[in-house]
Amino acid sequence: MNTIIQQINVEDFENNELKEAAQILQDGGLVAFPTETVYGLGANGLDENASKKIYEAKGRPSDNPLILHIADISSLEVLTSRIPEAARKLAETFWPGPLTMIFPKSDIVPYGTTGGLDTVAIRMPDHKLAAALIRTSGVPIAAPSANTSGRPSPTLAKHVADDLAGKIDMILDGGSVEIGIESTIVDVSGEVPVILRPGYITKGMLEDVVGQVEVDKAVLTRKVDTSIKPKAPGMKYKHYAPKGSMTIFEGDLDKVVTTINEQVKKQKEAGNKVGVIATEETKDRYHCDIVKCIGSRHNEISITQGLFKVLREFDDLGTEYIYTESFDDQKLGQAIMNRLLKAAGYHVVKL
Ligand code: TXA
Ligand code: MG
Repeated sequence: MNTIIQQINVEDFENNELKEAAQILQDGGLVAFPTETVYGLGANGLDENASKKIYEAKGRPSDNPLILHIADISSLEVLTSRIPEAARKLAETFWPGPLTMIFPKSDIVPYGTTGGLDTVAIRMPDHKLAAALIRTSGVPIAAPSANTSGRPSPTLAKHVADDLAGKIDMILDGGSVEIGIESTIVDVSGEVPVILRPGYITKGMLEDVVGQVEVDKAVLTRKVDTSIKPKAPGMKYKHYAPKGSMTIFEGDLDKVVTTINEQVKKQKEAGNKVGVIATEETKDRYHCDIVKCIGSRHNEISITQGLFKVLREFDDLGTEYIYTESFDDQKLGQAIMNRLLKAAGYHVVKL
């Protein structure tokens, strides 16, 4: 299949530039598009056969449900059978935005989209191009992150092309995304909302709106623990993984830098290709051929923006061993550490 790559100026485009993409979606095809979090791989979420193509293109297990993307709140009524009060409040506060909520699904949502579940994940992205694509196509767009299953999520159209060119109909290139990690997922079906995946919208931000919020055990775990079943099926798979073996060093930052330098030296002597994930504050302190700066410790959003991009760069360079600093797991740091821990297969060295 020839994948059409279409550049769109997100600040200045007209809806008729999206005509072809909308037509592909209506015809049951696949279009990758940017959102404020990461690039999504879209299909008509009400068409089971179209959803099936997403699983094939990504190599995604079919029990891992998709998120439906909407542009107008009225779509929520159509796609769900019940809207809890807490969800209404959260939608009013955070939509459009990087928040996904889990609802009991209505009959029109096919099981092929929800991985066989009676619930459906819904989000309203805060991105002009994504919203225009949803409105122009006239359907809720089912979209997982537009990467091959197991690879880091794409934050540039190039990442999508690297993984999926030849397997999907079109990529809308709207430049770099703003946030760089996937949306916060909250299950609002019970008494107390539960965070199934941490993201830009933190526990504290949610609690300011709806009171108590819990975090699913699987999010907080620090090891590969098969006895804990995550409520978001996708969280059980090895995810975000770079090809090299990754280790997180945790503790006093000076010690971390010293220890990473020692490990780098050992790997170099053994003839292995080694890289370091550093921050603006530390990047000049490493003695390594490949040092990638992920962002600044004083600006957490710069870290979320840089995270997946850096992991992909290590892959491109064929890095065999990756050493990284760790981050305080409060606020946005919880999402950052969640992604880093998964990328490292929970391999942490405490100093
Ligand atoms: O920011 C995002 O959320 C991006 C952009 C494209 O919107 N999308 C994204 O989708 O990250 P994906 O498929 O990579 O992750 C969706 C997660 C998976 O872990 C999946 O298991 C979970 O959401 N999920 C989807 N439907 C669910 C449901 N009904 N119940 C529990 N978890 C669900
Ligand atoms: Mg994903």
